[in-house]
Amino acid sequence: MLPLLVANWKMHKTKADALAFIDELRRLWPDRPGCEGAIAPPFTALDAVGGALRGTAIALAAQNVHWEEEGAFTGEVAARFLADLGCRYVIVGHSERRSQWGETDEQIARKLQTVLAHGMAPVWCIGESLREREAGRVLEVVGRQLAAGLGAVTPARMPPGRRGPELPLVIAYEPVWAIGTGRIAEPKQVQEVHAAVRQWLRDRLGGAADGVRLLYGGSVTPENVAAMAAQPDVNGALVGGASLDAKQFVLLAQRIARGGASS
Ligand code: 13P
Repeated sequence: MLPLLVANWKMHKTKADALAFIDELRRLWPDRPGCEGAIAPPFTALDAVGGALRGTAIALAAQNVHWEEEGAFTGEVAARFLADLGCRYVIVGHSERRSQWGETDEQIARKLQTVLAHGMAPVWCIGESLREREAGRVLEVVGRQLAAGLGAVTPARMPPGRRGPELPLVIAYEPVWAIGTGRIAEPKQVQEVHAAVRQWLRDRLGGAADGVRLLYGGSVTPENVAAMAAQPDVNGALVGGASLDAKQFVLLAQRIARGGASS
């Protein structure tokens, strides 16, 4: 399956900064990268970045979404607005949204459902805190987060991908203690969690589970990404800090493609 590299720019880059990045990326992005790339800019640059990516194989992604179709929800953005701008992916349930805005598993399930209903692929974030890891509760926490979204991701809601065997569902395992800390999880630890997630998906989705891409996120850099991508159940990465520079983003893609190929 084609690995996926998603740049989560978080609250970085003006429209002009974003366009300068895409300009450089268009020059550097290889013809056959062996990896799909996607950029999630802030909402203010989404339209401009979408326009600048037109004609490339790099996808547009959004960082968040509201579950309602429209209405009196000041400051929120509906899924159909994102689909209208050509988004292929939407990040859902990022740990920063869970911890700083109190997003619940129930709200996340509604977001997953809305994103799928509008023909986009959620990048569904899950992961444990340091305290939960130290208490040996990783699989319990991740299992609970997954179970809460279960109803939203039935095979009936996921028509086969238009571009290949990949299902329009991506799960990103991001241990909270590894995000923005420079402290990356061990590839073996990550594989253990991903294998458990894959098994969980097989129990519920059957063979379709093998078309779900499982990304790792948390302090990913060009230096550490290949070892991660070489794990059998790691199908790409969700990257914050290291995705802000176009040269680094291209290096990440090349090394993910190589890591994936050697597994
Ligand atoms: P960093 O790559 O900066 O650790 O951020 C990870 C992340 O939260 C991506 O969504």
